[in-house]
Order: sequence, then structure tokens, then C-alpha cells
Amino acid sequence: MRFVERYGPWAVVCGASEGLGAEYARQLAAKGLKLVLVARRENVLSELAKSLNVETRLIALDLAADDAGTRIAEQTRELDVGLFLYNAAFSPIGPLLEQSLEDNLKAVAVNVRTPTTLVHHFVPRLVKRTHGALVLLSSLTAFQGSPYVSTYGATKSFNLSLAEGLWAELRGTGVDVLCVCPGATATPNLLKASTKAPPGMQQPADVVRETLDNLDSGPMLIPGAFNKFASLLMRRLLPRRATIAIMASETRKLQLPP
Ligand SMILES: NC(=O)c1ccc[n+]([C@@H]2O[C@H](COP(=O)([O-])OP(=O)(O)OC[C@H]3O[C@@H](n4cnc5c(N)ncnc54)[C@H](OP(=O)(O)O)[C@@H]3O)[C@@H](O)[C@H]2O)c1
Repeated sequence: MRFVERYGPWAVVCGASEGLGAEYARQLAAKGLKLVLVARRENVLSELAKSLNVETRLIALDLAADDAGTRIAEQTRELDVGLFLYNAAFSPIGPLLEQSLEDNLKAVAVNVRTPTTLVHHFVPRLVKRTHGALVLLSSLTAFQGSPYVSTYGATKSFNLSLAEGLWAELRGTGVDVLCVCPGATATPNLLKASTKAPPGMQQPADVVRETLDNLDSGPMLIPGAFNKFASLLMRRLLPRRATIAIMASETRKLQLPP
């Protein structure tokens, strides 16, 4: 089956206005999929939509809102969605003692609650149509505690665990499940937060290309040779305390944009 027949005609991309999400939209459109683009900034979504050569539908909302998942479900109900991709995330940065509870709960809302609601909505529909894909964005922070982004890292472990469990549950249904765990990627948000170029930083286009080439190679993808090697070393060879210390030395360089 061609890509568009297997994963189209519609894809929903949550967090589509910039960075990896916008690049997922561009590459999916280039493959001929129609797109539902979700993010807060409608004007940015609208500019992106104009640059794509496919039919689009824009949903401008805050994915931290209690009703975000149900609103997306309602506004896409009549579309034949073959690919659901949850890319948006919120990451409070800094020592937990300096972070607000409000920001931590917002990270749980954007990174855990809303994708869980949408997984419950889209997965039964994907299974019923016997083909399609679910893609959740996680991170290398998912594999161990990640100081200075501790809550974000914990939400990314949730995404990984959810996707891996569903990957096994959905075997034989025709629905692919892939959890993407990028390392540092040159998106506007990462560049704004970085005080120094992180090691092995990838371009969004490369992460997205590797994702779309591997939708049926789940449950988990670590994009890029450097990240694959570093992660293997950290997960399999180094003591856990050492991997947490390595994460700390990288995440300490992150700062909240002014
Ligand atoms: N960049 C990296 O180095 C890196 C590394 C590992 C993993 N990741 C993962 O890759 C994914 C994408 O990362 P990214 O760096 O491209 O950007 P990001 O900052 O995680 O997400 C940016 C996109 O999400 C949307 N978004 C964020 N919060 C939202 C909210 N409350 N409601 C609606 N939309 C929201 C933004 O649009 P609006 O501002 O218009 O709402 C934008 O389109 C994330 O899941 C992240 O955890 C990234």
C-alpha cells in the first residue's frame, strides 16, 4: 500500500505551528496527506497551511485546556483520519524548587492528559478502519530521570510507556504505533533555551524523515546515529546514577527564554 493509502487521507498533527510539528506537516503534505493542524497561534498555522499544497483544517486551541481533547475529537469527527501524531509539549525548565506547581500541572495537561484523551478517541477509529498509525513524541529524557526538566522527563516516560504498551496491544490490527525519542533538535524552542549547542544536535527535517520512513518499525525510534549510540551506552552500559549525571550536565545548560 502506498503511504497516502496506508496513512491517509487525513492526518492530525497536534503542535503543528513550528519546529518538529511544522516539519511533520510539510513532509506529510508532500506525501499527499490532508492535514488537521492544531496549535494555539492561528495566524502561524494559517501561514503554514497556505504553503502546503493540500487541503487543511486549522484548530486553534490551548492543548492544556481541560476540554482540548474533546474539542479536537468533535472538530474532526467526520474526517477519515489515518494518522494521529501528538507532537506538542510543554517543559518547565530549572530546579523543581524554583518551578511553580501550576507550570508542572500544565506540563501534565499538555504532555499527558490531552494526548491520552486523543488516544482514546483516535485509536478505536484507526483499528476499525484496519490501517493507519499513532505517533507520540517522547524524548531521550524518557529513559532516566532528567534533572532540571524532571517533570517534563517524567511526562516523556509516560508517552514512551503508553506507546509501547499500545504497540503490543494493536499488533495484527493494521495500526502502527511509533514513539519517537529525539535527542537535541534545532527547533526554535530548543535554540531559545540552549546556552550552548547540545552534542549531536539534529535538524528537524532529518528527525521527521526518519520517523516517516519507520512508522511500521515500532515501538520506539531514536533518530540519528549519535543519539542511537549515546542512548545505547546510557541505557545498557553505564550505571543509572552516571546516566542521570550526564543528563544533568546537559540540562543544566538549558534556561527559560527571557
Ligand atoms: N527540540 C528538541 O530538542 C526535542 C528533543 C527531544 C524531544 N522533543 C519533543 O519533540 C516535540 C516537538 O518539540 P519542538 O522543540 O518542536 O517544540 P515544542 O515546543 O515542544 O512544541 C512546539 C509546538 O507545539 C505547540 N504547542 C506547545 N504548547 C501548546 C499548547 N499548550 N497548546 C497548543 N499547542 C501547543 C506550539 O504551537 P503554539 O505555540 O502555536 O501553540 C508548536 O507548534 C515535543 O514533544 C518535544 O518534547 C524535542
